Amino acid sequence: MPGSEANARGRSVTLHMVSSLDGFIAKKDNSVSWLDTGSVYEAGVSISDEEAAIFLKTIDCYVLGSRTYEHALQLGWPYGDTPVVVVTGREWPAARESVEFYSGDLKTLVDVTLAPRYRNIWLVGGAMLCQRFLELSLVDEIRLTIAPVLLGEGLRLFGGPLMEKRWNLKNVVGYKNGFVELSYSASSS
Ligand SMILES: NC(=O)c1ccc[n+]([C@@H]2O[C@H](COP(=O)([O-])OP(=O)(O)OC[C@H]3O[C@@H](n4cnc5c(N)ncnc54)[C@H](OP(=O)(O)O)[C@@H]3O)[C@@H](O)[C@H]2O)c1
Repeated sequence: MPGSEANARGRSVTLHMVSSLDGFIAKKDNSVSWLDTGSVYEAGVSISDEEAAIFLKTIDCYVLGSRTYEHALQLGWPYGDTPVVVVTGREWPAARESVEFYSGDLKTLVDVTLAPRYRNIWLVGGAMLCQRFLELSLVDEIRLTIAPVLLGEGLRLFGGPLMEKRWNLKNVVGYKNGFVELSYSASSS
């Protein structure tokens, strides 16, 4: 689980999502049991809770779309006290001290609001917000975790068509639970 490299501007935006083998990130009913596949890959690595906690401490800020935010509230908050920015055009009641809401231009969000405060920024969904970030070339690294399951239907990884763009494979990790994490950095071309 190597950390993200900050780019020349001093900050790094990592898009991280978990996808099924057929490219879905959520089921139609939003249930998440598909993430517990029961698969075992003996040659894979496993991460202790302590190692995971140390890694999570390297993340300075999470960015998420409002639908992902709503789902995170329902599931049980997974972001601890790490700052979270929720992108939304709606008004929300203040729920947690670590959460702020942002409405407006996404390049301004990254370059003006986040970059001076945070170095390692994680964009964690959903499909719609990640699509916008990719369209605007605001993503420095893609970390895609592939779950060993076909879902057949659901919410597609990215919300619509994207321009062709090359990415450089940086790392591949196969986990004991059968999940594979693929890390790519943006190519300059
Ligand atoms: N498998 C995974 O790794 C993973 C990760 C994250 C999420 N998910 C799942 O994905 C689903 C949610 O994804 P989603 O694509 O439906 O929604 P989303 O991207 O989480 O949120 C979409 C909302 O974000 C706001 N938004 C997006 N772009 C904006 C912009 N440029 N300016 C202002 N607001 C903007 C809008 O909020 P308003 O409508 O409030 O204006 C929009 O409705 C959930 O089921 C969640 O559990 C899965």
